[in-house]
Amino acid sequence: MGREEAVVVGVIGACGGAGASTLAAALADGLRRAGRRPLLVDLATRGGGIDVLLGIDHREGPRWADLRDARGEVDGRALAGLLPTWCAVPVLSAHRTDPAVLDQGVVVDVCSALADACDVLVLDLPRAALAAGAGGGADLSTGAAAGAGADAEHAALVGACDALFLVTPLELPAVAGAVAAVALARRSGADRSMRLVARRPAPGRLDPWEVSDVVGLPLACVVGWDRTLAARVDRGQGPPVGARRPLGRAGRELGALVTAGTLARTPAVA
Ligand SMILES: Nc1ncnc2c1ncn2[C@@H]1O[C@H](COP(=O)(O)OP(=O)(O)OP(=O)(O)O)[C@@H](O)[C@H]1O
Ligand SMILES: [Mg+2]
Repeated sequence: MGREEAVVVGVIGACGGAGASTLAAALADGLRRAGRRPLLVDLATRGGGIDVLLGIDHREGPRWADLRDARGEVDGRALAGLLPTWCAVPVLSAHRTDPAVLDQGVVVDVCSALADACDVLVLDLPRAALAAGAGGGADLSTGAAAGAGADAEHAALVGACDALFLVTPLELPAVAGAVAAVALARRSGADRSMRLVARRPAPGRLDPWEVSDVVGLPLACVVGWDRTLAARVDRGQGPPVGARRPLGRAGRELGALVTAGTLARTPAVA
């Protein structure tokens, strides 16, 4: 599978703690169950890595801190083969105790190389990626990114996403965050690949479809709250993604959307 053929899917939170990293993992698992070869990349390179959330932080394998010198032609397949796995999905994450401050270009070069080693690249994006509002986007076939700095690199990756899922808890402040995120994304045209993922609970009874109207994004899926998740994560067991669990269902639903190829960009709004 050549890098030009890899689908790039981003997941981003409308507010802090929205559940974006958890959903990115569930989506990667859903894609794997659908017969795809996903690869999960956590772009919070400076720590608090997704490998802790997944309970794989004790596993051997490269982290962002080991890739400080990775510039130019990175061997994506060799790198992917060394990465720790969660549910058979290779995962690139920050190191739990060794946060990485990376040189300009490393993030895009590494993601570009990894796109050559999978058929769906799932990016767990920091919210600052939208705030940077870069134009252009990264070309993952060449590794070229517009702009400078970590935020610009992340923003460039946002621009490279074929689909971008905005995870939004069904609460007013999060909905306000989603409206702002869409406004930021609109500046670079990235809103056209955005879809809403509404996350329950809805303590004030906000309706996901009404929220979808307010935010101005098509509703891709509603994720239920799994009350067993926190304890599992705290025990190092990772989020539950079995077929009957809320995240398992959401991962399969979104995975099916991605594999069906029905996520064409929505027309630009004048
Ligand atoms: N569907 C869910 N059911 C139960 N708990 C959840 C669910 N989604 C997320 N959580 C919990 O919410 C918290 C935040 O989740 P997560 O780290 O995925 O969010 P995030 O948007 O990536 O946060 P950050 O802004 O720190 O990147 C975690 O404690 C996680 O266990
Ligand atoms: Mg996160």
